[in-house]
Amino acid sequence: MLDSLVLHDFRCFLRAEFRPAPGLNLLSAPNASGKSSLLEGVCVALRLQSPRAGVLGEAVRREAGGFSLVGRCGDRELACHYSAEEGRQLKLDGVAQRKSDEYLRVGLVAFFSNEDIDLVRGSSSKRRRFLDFLASQCEAGYLKNLRAYERALRSRNFLLKEGPHRGRELAAYDGPLLSAGEYLVRVRRELSAELAPLVAKHVAAISPRREVSGLHYECSGGDDLASALAASASEERRLRQTVVGPHRDDVRLELDGAAAATFASEGQQRTLALALRLAQAELIRARRGSPPVYLLDDIFGELDTERRRRLLHALPGDAQRILTTTNWQWLEETGEAANWTIREGRVEAV
Ligand SMILES: Nc1ncnc2c1ncn2[C@@H]1O[C@H](COP(=O)(O)OP(=O)(O)O)[C@@H](O)[C@H]1O
Ligand SMILES: [Mg+2]
Repeated sequence: MLDSLVLHDFRCFLRAEFRPAPGLNLLSAPNASGKSSLLEGVCVALRLQSPRAGVLGEAVRREAGGFSLVGRCGDRELACHYSAEEGRQLKLDGVAQRKSDEYLRVGLVAFFSNEDIDLVRGSSSKRRRFLDFLASQCEAGYLKNLRAYERALRSRNFLLKEGPHRGRELAAYDGPLLSAGEYLVRVRRELSAELAPLVAKHVAAISPRREVSGLHYECSGGDDLASALAASASEERRLRQTVVGPHRDDVRLELDGAAAATFASEGQQRTLALALRLAQAELIRARRGSPPVYLLDDIFGELDTERRRRLLHALPGDAQRILTTTNWQWLEETGEAANWTIREGRVEAV
């Protein structure tokens, strides 16, 4: 749970402080006031990853040299500073961290946004990113292996681009590529198998119709990555890149037995995307013993009344939930919610 977050030079915020309540938080403010930026700040502070920006540099306030985020979770303090010159610098309870392992053990996040529909109809990279974000919160060694895989892949692809005369050097990277790659595939497969029934459950709960969802991890390298890599040698030379491995894998999503990207309606695709996020959050909780912070960025506008109601219902009452929208007029009773707005770059209680 996040007790407080102080943002400096992050997106549109010069300096802002947010002290969310432990339960339901409703943040309502006009467009371009900083709602998405605030939730992004929470996500970066807890997970060191932005749900929208590919690189953290984008989140630095224009005209500023770098941002800082300081989050408090109980008696833990997470501080993340980023600037172009110094890169990312982390402190945990005031102590500088060279690695992110300890830091990332503190906070768990599930992030819902309108772009989630791309999980269903976008490119396979969106689905790999979804699994990576999940796996990094469930398995302590995952990020280390992901980085090792990416390094080996970059080196191999560099050599393949250079041309056949560098072919002999390739073998040096096969070992690291395979050991990290096999680990990634194993973890992603296990998580996909655990996700499938949870996604099906949430699709059934959110959709007023009876739809059956399917989710299957698809390995570009089949069951044996080492053999697939060896067998792809001539294609690699032709295409000048590594053509099998977890960077080419995908997750097949189905609704009522048909590919969801092609056959499902937009409403059905949104339902499936929501179910994926809800399942992700539930799996994080199952693996880690406590729920993630639920961040829902302005997704209610795209849903009909019935789906809104069902979604609100599907969020666990004992988790911290931070929901943004331009207005809550459609919401009948908010119960115990803490209400917030953003005025001139400040987060204020209303
Ligand atoms: N790096 C940045 N520096 C300064 N302002 C930014 C930066 N990135 C985005 N903004 C601005 O921040 C404002 C708030 O954006 P956003 O958080 O998306 O608002 P909302 O979600 O409330 O619609 C926008 O006016 C946007 O142009
Ligand atoms: Mg927004």
